[in-house]
Amino acid sequence: MKDLTHSADATTVEEALAASNHQGIVDSEGATALAMQNTLLTPRFYTTDFDELDAIDVSSVRQDWDVLIAQMKADPNKGHFKKNEDWDHIDWENMEPKLKAEFIDFLVSSCTAEFSGCVLYKEMKRRGNNEDIVTLFQLMARDEARHAGFINDALREAGIAVNLGFLTQKKKYTYFRPKFIYYATYLSEKIGYARYITIYRHLEKNPELRFHPIFKWFKEWCNDEFSHGEAFALLMKTDPKLTQSFANKLWIKFFLTAVYSTMYVRDHQRPAFHAALGVDPDWYAHEVFTKTSEISKQVFPLTLDIDNPRWERGLKKLQKANADLAEAKKTGNLFKRVGAMARAATAFVGLYTIPAVKHDVPASTRLEPAY
Ligand SMILES: [Fe+2]
Ligand SMILES: [Fe+2]
Repeated sequence: MKDLTHSADATTVEEALAASNHQGIVDSEGATALAMQNTLLTPRFYTTDFDELDAIDVSSVRQDWDVLIAQMKADPNKGHFKKNEDWDHIDWENMEPKLKAEFIDFLVSSCTAEFSGCVLYKEMKRRGNNEDIVTLFQLMARDEARHAGFINDALREAGIAVNLGFLTQKKKYTYFRPKFIYYATYLSEKIGYARYITIYRHLEKNPELRFHPIFKWFKEWCNDEFSHGEAFALLMKTDPKLTQSFANKLWIKFFLTAVYSTMYVRDHQRPAFHAALGVDPDWYAHEVFTKTSEISKQVFPLTLDIDNPRWERGLKKLQKANADLAEAKKTGNLFKRVGAMARAATAFVGLYTIPAVKHDVPASTRLEPAY
């Protein structure tokens, strides 16, 4: 293995993880403990039936597949995910404490999510024999290792590091059947794209609000996530049942509701972070849901009715129930805790039962980033 100094320059996931910015990380307990959390709202690590995934035949989408893989192999973002002269100095010491805490929480949870993708994709690459699948997962794992390594660089300046090696060994893995991996991962890649590009465009217009240089990297970053989403769209396209059967449509609606509402609740836990960016979390959520819904029409035959008044109302109820739940956990009030859980469940069912918007899916899924 070549001696590499930085994951940004690596050509494979193995090289990226062996690079110096992934190595010698002094564990900072708080950050790793945060990344170890497994709640409904924190990023998880996943495992699946790798043999079933390996058996996918992509010949029905061959043309689009080859174009996508060629793009990813060309690797336009090689060398991008590291600090350069555009990286401004940050005065962590004097950052407003509430903003600092929320921003670190944002970075740690983003790093965990990136690394979770890396671990899943790398494992698929390691276990597979199918040339197409192994190639794709190697390329995606490479990207996620770079993303996670870059966030860890940013955290290190604040004297914090997530011990990714420790996480790989010790964090609990959640098993998902392959089809659930497709729905969940497709959506998380596409919503990741929508989140990053929305912040990037907003800060392009309001550069004085960019309180940290990492946001300057979001455009290339979200293009990587966009490609990853494209790959999952093609994988789903190889088996029409996955998006057309009655039961699977219910599952798709479930994942859309879960992914959107988790984002909403999580973002509303970071008021200082959003205030510093000059972003209203309600506006931001609606913006991101609109973009994600528009994109997901490439493969999902339904979108959520996010303009239905019940949607906004339901999200607010869910968020309130979650805030009360966190409070009840802190104070150890079991009665309040059960009550808040019941209200959260009711709010989620309310969101899930809003009639979806149905539409036709195009024959070819391929999209390019358009926002
Ligand atoms: Fe990523
Ligand atoms: Fe990704």
